[in-house]
Amino acid sequence: MCGIFGYVNYLVEKNRGEILSTLLEGLKRLEYRGYDSSGLAIDGDKPNEVFIEKAVGKVKELEKLVNSQNLDTSKVFESHSAIAHTRWATHGAPSPLNAHPHRSDPTHEFVIVHNGIVTNFRELKALLMSKGFVFETETDTECIAKLCKYVYELNKHRNLDFSQLAKLVLVELQGAYGLLIKSVHYPGEVIATRKGSPLLIGVKTDKKLKMDFVDVEFPDITVEAVSTTDTLPNPSLLQVANNGLLNPLMGSDLRHSQSRAFMSEDGVPMPAEFFIASDASSVVEHTKKVLFLEDDDIAHIYDGELHIHRVRRQDGQSTTRSIQTLEMELNEIMKGNYDHFMQKEIFEQPESVINTMRGRIDFDTKTVTLGGLSAYIQTIRRSRRIIMVACGTSYHSCLATRTIIEELTEIPIVVELASDFLDRRSPVFRDDTCVFVSQSGETADSMLALQYCNERGALTVGIVNTVGSSISRQTHCGVHINAGPEIGVASTKAYTSQYIALVMMALALSDDSISKTARRHEIIDGLAKISSQIKTVLQLDDKIKQMVTSELVSQKSLLLLGRGYQFATALEGALKIKEISYMHSEGVLAGELKHGVLALVDEDLPIIVLATKDSLFPKVVSSVEQVIARKGNPILICNEGEHPVSRPADKSLRTLEVPATVDCLQGVLNVIPLQLMSYWLAVLNGHNVDYPRNLAKSVTVE
Ligand code: UD1
Ligand code: M6R
Repeated sequence: MCGIFGYVNYLVEKNRGEILSTLLEGLKRLEYRGYDSSGLAIDGDKPNEVFIEKAVGKVKELEKLVNSQNLDTSKVFESHSAIAHTRWATHGAPSPLNAHPHRSDPTHEFVIVHNGIVTNFRELKALLMSKGFVFETETDTECIAKLCKYVYELNKHRNLDFSQLAKLVLVELQGAYGLLIKSVHYPGEVIATRKGSPLLIGVKTDKKLKMDFVDVEFPDITVEAVSTTDTLPNPSLLQVANNGLLNPLMGSDLRHSQSRAFMSEDGVPMPAEFFIASDASSVVEHTKKVLFLEDDDIAHIYDGELHIHRVRRQDGQSTTRSIQTLEMELNEIMKGNYDHFMQKEIFEQPESVINTMRGRIDFDTKTVTLGGLSAYIQTIRRSRRIIMVACGTSYHSCLATRTIIEELTEIPIVVELASDFLDRRSPVFRDDTCVFVSQSGETADSMLALQYCNERGALTVGIVNTVGSSISRQTHCGVHINAGPEIGVASTKAYTSQYIALVMMALALSDDSISKTARRHEIIDGLAKISSQIKTVLQLDDKIKQMVTSELVSQKSLLLLGRGYQFATALEGALKIKEISYMHSEGVLAGELKHGVLALVDEDLPIIVLATKDSLFPKVVSSVEQVIARKGNPILICNEGEHPVSRPADKSLRTLEVPATVDCLQGVLNVIPLQLMSYWLAVLNGHNVDYPRNLAKSVTVE
């Protein structure tokens, strides 16, 4: 996810080298959020000059670039504003050009860093292009920088201050943003504003602040519409006109207010430093005094003061923002309220699955549009077979969805472990479609398999979480699963998002088939409910923790039984358990029980059976009975009220009940209790949950 860091010093002498290292360190603190490129903007050597540096890859690449520029690092700035950013690509691939800061024009009059998405950027871009602006990137952000310059030029005669200009720009933006603006027209100043995207400001002063809050400033007088009304096409402007929102000049004595918090006893300006960031991780090492902006706050930092403006006053809204003292340590900040990244990521799944579907499924018309595949759908439909290639958890998401892809597309599907596929030098033909599923997009085995398939002329498709990763770039087309960065080595939210992305692929490939319509609609209806059902499953957390504490934590081995759709769930659950709890665990196809595994079953071996209702349910019930007949005492993952064994003697059977969904989606819900179980097994055994021994998040070696 993108990260913002800004630094403003006022009457605190800093040389350029120090400013640069503050920025680079700030960005490094945001690295954990995941990103693919980064950039920064600082003042140049002459007045009205701004240097922008941007690089793809880790922050150290940006650092190398900055070091190679021979900038005069000894140049001292008594007052200076700087902005920086780590980008996780959404609009446009990762590249130096698409990285932030973005600029209004070649002389960098306005530079911007932005988190979020400007949803009306196409309209704004069209307008600005018609006014002669030349766009150089594929991003939505660039239009904000250009809009600043446009609005500035239009209102030049009015001598606007920076916050007034910002208000005029912001009313035009739709969507979400955390935003920093820097301008040669307002040296040493920064605008920091947010809507739906977090932003906070750390304050560092030698003297104690007079107040522990900052007043919110509202326009005193509301008058006619802004002057851009007739030129911008956005309907919001009309609203502005009707509401008579603001006229930046009216009655405003420029900078008439002084911030009470920053006023010094003797009236002499107070030296101050400000650290602006999208999360506290990059601020706490500098200061614990922070102010969290609220949506639509426009923070204006200048002359060592922090002012908060809003466009309009609303009833019941607080007129101050408190400056709080953050007691949190760095690690706590990054993990939010969770103890581990894995736990955070498990609990993020109600949102991450929505992000996977966002903008792709229309639940009203029951249609699925995958922008990344649309040009290739016909080619895939005509392919002789689909080969799905992946490793580990990603391989399990292929197994979990193979049946539904096959059923909907009627194309034969082969699922391959990347290393084995390569070892066998498996034949691949030009009319094959090869689908590579990977969270990181960098797994060496999957990458080599991809190159192998590309060389043989097959169509290659990526299902990848990391935009700009090698697999994403080297496949012909694909789908980004948009689950957000996954930091815990054990893959959790990526699995459920891959699963849903693959189901969406099957839906998109089969939307020309009338005979499949009812089935497709059933699945789309199921997807509409999946996020709230995941929330329900997550409520099992306490029960699972208890179960693990009372009977699983000191076991040596654990069997997971499943069949049909749930075989993949059993394998994935077993992998999670092995990986972080170091307990031996095996996913077994329930139908194979009697062919050998049954010999292991006794009253001591813990067994979990995936026994949710689908067409194979009667067969699963029979496996449960075989286990019970050997004195086994399985834990059943079953649907609410659908206990597979109802005889009184079996009342002692323990269950974890999950909501029912369409058969092919049930695995999304069933895997979650197993993720939680592996999590608690690891925690209660005292293992390092996020960084299990011997494993890496991204396996870039063969
Ligand atoms: C794209 C944008 C998204 C925007 C949406 C609406 C990107 C990364 N995504 O999403 O921000 O909201 O349009 O217009 O810019 N690809 C591969 N291999 C892969 C994964 C993807 O080649 O493994 C390609 C796709 O074929 C596509 C591009 O990358 O050309 C973006 O894929 P994806 O993000 O899935 O596309 P959209 O959902 O359309
Ligand atoms: O990044 P990828 O999805 O390509 O990674 C594949 C496997 O290394 C990965 O899924 C691994 O099995 C996980 N750590 C399991 O939790």
